[in-house]
Amino acid sequence: MKQKSILVIDDEVLLLDLVEECLVDDFQIIVKANTVDMAKDALFERQFDCVLIDIDISGSNGAEIVKMMKEYNPGDNAETPVIIMSGLINEDFKEKFRDKFAGILAKPFKPGDLQAQVLVAVGSSKRSKSNSDLNLISDEPETPAHKERENPLPEGDEVRKVEIEFNNEKVFLDVFNPAVTAPFKIQDLDRKVTKFLDKVQRNPKLSELFKKLKATKDDPYLMTHIGLLINISTGIATQMDWGSEQTLEKFIYASYLHDISLGDSSKLAQYKTKAEFESDDSLSQDAKKLVNLHPLASKTLIEHKNDIPQDVHTIIEQHHEMPDGSGFPAGIDNKRITPLASIFIVSHLLADYIIENEKWKVENFVKKYRSKMKGPHFRKALKCVEGIK
Ligand SMILES: [Fe+2]
Ligand SMILES: [Fe+2]
Repeated sequence: MKQKSILVIDDEVLLLDLVEECLVDDFQIIVKANTVDMAKDALFERQFDCVLIDIDISGSNGAEIVKMMKEYNPGDNAETPVIIMSGLINEDFKEKFRDKFAGILAKPFKPGDLQAQVLVAVGSSKRSKSNSDLNLISDEPETPAHKERENPLPEGDEVRKVEIEFNNEKVFLDVFNPAVTAPFKIQDLDRKVTKFLDKVQRNPKLSELFKKLKATKDDPYLMTHIGLLINISTGIATQMDWGSEQTLEKFIYASYLHDISLGDSSKLAQYKTKAEFESDDSLSQDAKKLVNLHPLASKTLIEHKNDIPQDVHTIIEQHHEMPDGSGFPAGIDNKRITPLASIFIVSHLLADYIIENEKWKVENFVKKYRSKMKGPHFRKALKCVEGIK
């Protein structure tokens, strides 16, 4: 197996050691550099799978290293994904660097955020194409937008296409019509989703992010999952009297973006418990790690890239946690899971339950999950599900 390597550049030796500690399970070769010269030497010596740079190295500028990598291709590193770290991330900074790097990490960061960013950067890099498990964000050309796809969904369901223009390129998203398929009948939901997607369309940063959503005709899981999630989460929120436009918008965002770090790998998006993916022998260690960290990885992908509300970050970060502490990646319980995330988690469980059980019944779902639903928000959300006719 090829050894994975990373170069970490920061003038604080303590931070280099901390980063090394976080990444030691993922990289066989970790080279630390605390000056620009050391970094340049290291780059000439070998090709890395990822480079992590503190952009504000004292007395110098980390950007200088990135420029040199692109211009001189030392050690064949011109295409190596670069993640930058900084304690000075503000709007200007984001604006300037957003599209130039594989990731941006604001200091101080949590170890999980670092691991997730690095996984996403390495996985989406062109060099890791051979590892299909980790090919998170496919560089394959889009399904030609103008070519009619066969309807991948069962008879009677409606699919609408929403056009998004990005860099003069037209992208079509299949939007599963939540009103047709889903358990909650919500007035005007369709109009709200359309309004939301119009907004996405007008915002280049958001369109770019949405471009990463893939759905193919052989695998309608993703769009069905998203459509159901929008319906159920906004349905529960409305019944709990949290139906303001802003709150519903947060759920629509989270429904679309929560698994975005998994790219088109819907198989990886379908694990519900840690035990389920840990015991799956068909998954590589890297893939297991990615499944475990994908809530964090998705969160880091949406950070610094657009104007998505903070609550959405938290919903995404917590979407596989469980109120009894049996979820992942953090294993936190209902006391630390936010109310909005609680609604989303219940919605997520129900969405998958519906997809897996063609003739699903509310009673059976409630029976399955009632004992796990601890805390007022989870219990209230489950009550709303019980009310579905
Ligand atoms: Fe997920
Ligand atoms: Fe999901």
